[in-house]
Amino acid sequence: MWLRTLRLENFRNYERLELELSSSLNTFFGPNGSGKTSILEAVSFLAVARSLRGSGDSEVARWGEAGFGVGGEIVSDGPARSITLRYAKGGTKDVTVDGEPLAKLSNLVGVLRVAWFCPEDTWITKGGPAARRKLVDLTLCQIDRPYLAALSNYRRALRQRNEALLAWTPDEESERVVEVWTDRLIEYGSRVVATRLTMLPRFSEAVSRFQKLVAGGDELTLRYKGSVALDAGRGGAPAEGPPSDAALDEDLVAERFRDALERRGDEERRRGYTVVGPHRDDLEVLLNGRVLRSFGSQGQHRTAAIALKLGEAAVLDTDGHGVVVLLDDILSELDDRRAGALVELVGGHGQALLTSTRPMPDGVVGGEPAASFRVEAGEVVRQ
Ligand SMILES: Nc1ncnc2c1ncn2[C@@H]1O[C@H](COP(=O)(O)OP(=O)(O)OP(=O)(O)O)[C@@H](O)[C@H]1O
Ligand SMILES: [Mg+2]
Repeated sequence: MWLRTLRLENFRNYERLELELSSSLNTFFGPNGSGKTSILEAVSFLAVARSLRGSGDSEVARWGEAGFGVGGEIVSDGPARSITLRYAKGGTKDVTVDGEPLAKLSNLVGVLRVAWFCPEDTWITKGGPAARRKLVDLTLCQIDRPYLAALSNYRRALRQRNEALLAWTPDEESERVVEVWTDRLIEYGSRVVATRLTMLPRFSEAVSRFQKLVAGGDELTLRYKGSVALDAGRGGAPAEGPPSDAALDEDLVAERFRDALERRGDEERRRGYTVVGPHRDDLEVLLNGRVLRSFGSQGQHRTAAIALKLGEAAVLDTDGHGVVVLLDDILSELDDRRAGALVELVGGHGQALLTSTRPMPDGVVGGEPAASFRVEAGEVVRQ
């Protein structure tokens, strides 16, 4: 699946734009403020009906205009599909697929899948566990509907259980309420953890492969650091190393989760919140066996975050449906060798759109049939 044409109308600094894209790598070069990121942002509207740059719809409409439009043609196994999205300020956002209006914007999800990567994403490896849990959750939610349901039920159970723990007094009624939510927490939480662990080997394998291709010798590995010990025995320490096959079993996770909650029951009642569960878990990123977060250089973080994002794209593409990779301004902190390897890699993998203020290093082609565009103040010219 790839995007063959992209049309913009009154979108950011573009009054009108129509592009024919390549099915492999498309690079957009141009000075700061010329309109490169805006092109990727427009693609994100076709995929998820909103800006993956994080802007509100009204900020996207060209200054002085009452709205904007984005259109595109998607090529996949079947007949090509066309998407149009129109936004009118103060009004509505309408999407049509093959001319048919969509009743709900969420029905658009899946027609065009994208993985967006920008410089701020280095927080995936630099920041706390929340950023990494978010990456895992967003990836799984796009491809696994039962996971999405389990995760939202888990969050609800967690909220209710925390309220019950906060209000807890040493009597039967209080205890009964906590127990009701404990059962729910375990039911959904063990599904969340088991699904994450099932996906992990595929994700980890893809991430190490991409890391090797981009950075050469460095070994990048992922390790699920659960707040519930999943290895054999009843030690309270977090699980270390890759979980055994048995740990992927939901029932076993549930059993361990219950043990952990029982062990820390007094502490939870004292503190008034839930101290173990998938909401406290981490996905550790290790470079050559060391936790990258604590020592990585700027470029090492950048490279690792790219490998994680490409791994995400590979997991999103498990069913072979294809995913468009959007890489915004990621070459700036990579040396020429890494930048070249990355460009060759994404070009050979599927469709990618990449922005940069500097031209490609010499000799970098980016797969066939790569396309290169020059962007200058809202004008785009194919080179
Ligand atoms: N709603 C809008 N209407 C018109 N112009 C806008 C609007 N929003 C942003 N711009 C302008 O559009 C231009 C394109 O922004 P964009 O972020 O796409 O640039 P860029 O090429 O990615 O730049 P950089 O290399 O600095 O990241 C900028 O000059 C910006 O000031
Ligand atoms: Mg930009």
